[in-house]
Amino acid sequence: MIKKIGKGLIRISSAFKAFAQVLSEGGIKKLEVSMLDKHNELENRKIVITGGGSGIGLAVARCCVNAGADVLITGRNERKLREAVHSIGSDSISYLVWDASDADSADLKVQECERKLGGQIDAVVNNAGVPPHEFFPSVSGAEWDRIYLTNGKGIFFTAQAFCKYWINHPSDEYRHLINISSQGGFVGALYPYRMSKWDIRGLTEGLGVQMAPQNVLVNGVAPGVVRTAMQSFAVQQGDNAYCNQNLLKRYALPEEVAELIIFMLSGACNFMVGQTILLDGGYSIKN
Ligand SMILES: NC(=O)c1ccc[n+]([C@@H]2O[C@H](COP(=O)([O-])OP(=O)(O)OC[C@H]3O[C@@H](n4cnc5c(N)ncnc54)[C@H](OP(=O)(O)O)[C@@H]3O)[C@@H](O)[C@H]2O)c1
Repeated sequence: MIKKIGKGLIRISSAFKAFAQVLSEGGIKKLEVSMLDKHNELENRKIVITGGGSGIGLAVARCCVNAGADVLITGRNERKLREAVHSIGSDSISYLVWDASDADSADLKVQECERKLGGQIDAVVNNAGVPPHEFFPSVSGAEWDRIYLTNGKGIFFTAQAFCKYWINHPSDEYRHLINISSQGGFVGALYPYRMSKWDIRGLTEGLGVQMAPQNVLVNGVAPGVVRTAMQSFAVQQGDNAYCNQNLLKRYALPEEVAELIIFMLSGACNFMVGQTILLDGGYSIKN
């Protein structure tokens, strides 16, 4: 009981600190983001987006559909996926329930993706991830396992299964695999979430080298703070985009990450191999 009260107080005091900072730095920022005009850059391309039922994945799915692609989103919660498909409201989007951490089912799920998309898969956004709950020096073994189950095992086996599929179905056309890392994968890592995001960068480089000769371009994106369920403070702030972490003093919208990913999936970005692109408002270079 006492512990509960203590934690509550810490939460209230950090919320108060953040609020005071908003006031002292004049932190109300309303965002207006320009979206590029899409000219069917992804027409008829078949794209899988893991964790596509919400947040960044859902924004990417919407942009891909708008750019002419057939899109399949995956996740663990069928209701969420169904609602996401409904919210996009197009014949070009469908879903598949797939827990990315289930390594043994990955190859079969890839076959199911191909069947649902009605043809060979051109691109994958390996996005499914879970957020940190515990931080150094209070990280438990259970937290380590929870994070690594999805952000480590899930990301790896998803990437492996799709790469294997592409090795078995060679093409002269470029395929794209985009792994989602984080700004935390570019700074000192003191807790499992950040360590997993460093690992994703490593995997992106390793697969980039391995798969380029097969015309599979493996790259990554490392977002900063983005307003999604993973950043509940940002959702709670509503229209106030203030965030004290980066040089722009704001969070990003998922659509801003989606715009970069659409570029990376398009034929305009076919000379990039093994890179993880930071989109973090300057967070990783600010010191
Ligand atoms: N928001 C940020 O500030 C931020 C910053 C840097 C990086 N990222 C990364 O961006 C990616 C997307 O996160 P988000 O911010 O968009 O948060 P989000 O809305 O919570 O999206 C995460 C998605 O992953 C799915 N997911 C989680 N575990 C899964 C599993 N084992 N198998 C399949 N799907 C799973 C979730 O759906 P279910 O739970 O229904 O399965 C959810 O739809 C994550 O990799 C995250 O680490 C986010």
